[in-house]
Amino acid sequence: MAPLRVVAMLALLAILVLASAAWAGGTFQGVASCAGSTCHGRSEGDGKVVRQDELMQWQEPSSKGGAHSRAYSALTSPRGQKILSALGMGQGANASACLGCHATNAAVGERGPRFQLGDGVGCESCHGAASGWISTHYAVPATHVTNVAQGMIPLENPKARASVCLDCHFGSAKTGQFVTHSMMAAGHPRVAFELDLFSDLERHWDDDADYRQRKGRGDSVRMWAVGQAEAVQRSLSLFQQPQFASEGIFPEFYFYDCHSCHRSIDDQPNRARQFETNPGRPMPFGLPPYNDENIIMLSAVAQVLASGQASAFDSASRGFHTAMGQGRPQAVAAAGKLRAAAASLSSALAARAGNPDSAFTVIGAIAGKAVSPRFTDYTGSAQAVMGVDTLLNALVREGRITVGAATGIRANVNRAYAAVASPAGYDPPAFRAALGQAARSIEALR
Ligand code: HEC
Ligand code: HEC
Ligand code: HEC
Ligand code: HEC
Repeated sequence: MAPLRVVAMLALLAILVLASAAWAGGTFQGVASCAGSTCHGRSEGDGKVVRQDELMQWQEPSSKGGAHSRAYSALTSPRGQKILSALGMGQGANASACLGCHATNAAVGERGPRFQLGDGVGCESCHGAASGWISTHYAVPATHVTNVAQGMIPLENPKARASVCLDCHFGSAKTGQFVTHSMMAAGHPRVAFELDLFSDLERHWDDDADYRQRKGRGDSVRMWAVGQAEAVQRSLSLFQQPQFASEGIFPEFYFYDCHSCHRSIDDQPNRARQFETNPGRPMPFGLPPYNDENIIMLSAVAQVLASGQASAFDSASRGFHTAMGQGRPQAVAAAGKLRAAAASLSSALAARAGNPDSAFTVIGAIAGKAVSPRFTDYTGSAQAVMGVDTLLNALVREGRITVGAATGIRANVNRAYAAVASPAGYDPPAFRAALGQAARSIEALR
């Protein structure tokens, strides 16, 4: 056989081996398959070996223990929809970035006939795909050891349990199991977890004599301590992987101490967003925008004094903000384009003949419809007030406005100054209203 064909055969063999290894995990049978009234669907927890009311516990609407059965519907709740629409991700059922944690994370080929995404975090999310043991696990000669050999996850083992919970209660490299800072900025609650406490909160088993005989004695200190060790490793292993470590040009903020950047975070479902989306900065949620105070001013001035270049400059500016969400090489390239557009504007503005009316038109442009919505942050707004004030003084110096008239509208300009008097009291809509009023009163003197 030619060596090449041998290599090809070996590759095929390797694929087959890998595929069958994945198959060894089995297929997911769905909650309905566990729910029989002689199985785990009883209404009393009085089973001889296990309680048998596990389904009821899992569904209990009044308790945290029932949270997993509600996980899928969280995606279509008002809060879920708000997050999805902010991220531009479409409807719940298609949101693959969410389903890894809000449903049983089974690939399409691993779903049995009764599997339903709508089950949310079902029994097999934690206990493992059941095809290998569902029909045998409850009767002699099956033992916990033989069940585990057939794919049941040994959740009494602290490491195994921590690994299962952390997939969703911190994140994993598997499909749809990473909750980004961007999702949090769009409204996702922050994720808190502690293995022993959270196990207790969703307890649907009795740590009784026969449990101990089958699985050993539960030990809270061990569970808690191993939980801490596994959480440290999980976080660091994701941090080490380039695809999770950064978002665009920035580090992924999910890994950092939230309060170093946010001295207050509101986690409530109905929280009001504390930032405004900015039409001049097309970038993902939760990334720090480049300080564009001078870019905004230059955009305004280009509109009225170098209109031939205005749209090229604006699109280079949007391209730059977008590239910040993509990566360092993209951002550096886009910075080069924006810089060239600014250089070209600089030459055009420097070569321009003076015109006594231009201060009026520039003030109009700064406060106008195209530019004003870009005042969502403090620095750009402060720059705008300084600009308007400077241009008003120029109008007085050049005799276009009398000192008396300028004094007459001073109160309006001062209101705009007051709106940026302190960064802590900055309020974008109030600022835009004050700026508009100042600009209108100046225009009235034209
Ligand atoms: C890494 C796993 C993970 C991913 C990915 C994830 N979530 Fe969550 N989500 C959780 C956990 C865990 C909670 C519960 C947080 C807590 O209370 O500690 C939660 C809570 C929520 C809640 C609040 C539920 C409630 O009952 O108040 C909503 C809504 C939500 N997620 C929506 C989403 C959406 C939409 C996505 C996709 C954009 C998503 N989640 C992605 C793990 C995840
Ligand atoms: C969020 C993870 C999770 C989900 C979802 C879950 N379980 Fe459990 N289950 C556990 C843990 C952890 C234990 C305790 C450790 C152990 O004994 O395996 C446990 C224990 C059990 C036990 C007792 C085992 C014994 O030996 O006494 C049964 C039975 C059980 N679960 C059935 C179910 C059924 C049925 C469902 C679905 C309706 C379900 N579980 C959903 C995590 C989960
Ligand atoms: C497949 C993903 C997934 C796995 C695995 C998982 N959880 Fe969860 N868990 C969630 C999601 C999502 C929520 C939030 C659901 C909601 O509120 O809508 C949640 C909620 C909870 C809650 C309620 C928290 C609260 O504050 O309301 C507890 C307790 C909990 N999980 C414990 C565990 C434990 C213990 C394990 C491991 C044995 C585990 N979970 C495994 C996804 C998962
Ligand atoms: C390195 C700084 C940094 C860290 C660390 C950080 N964030 Fe953010 N966060 C930001 C920035 C920047 C924004 C976007 C704010 C804006 O656009 O005005 C943001 C936005 C948010 C928002 C939306 C704020 C609003 O106005 O509604 C929430 C919520 C949020 N982050 C939560 C978190 C959580 C939870 C953590 C920790 C897991 C965290 N952040 C860590 C920088 C950070």
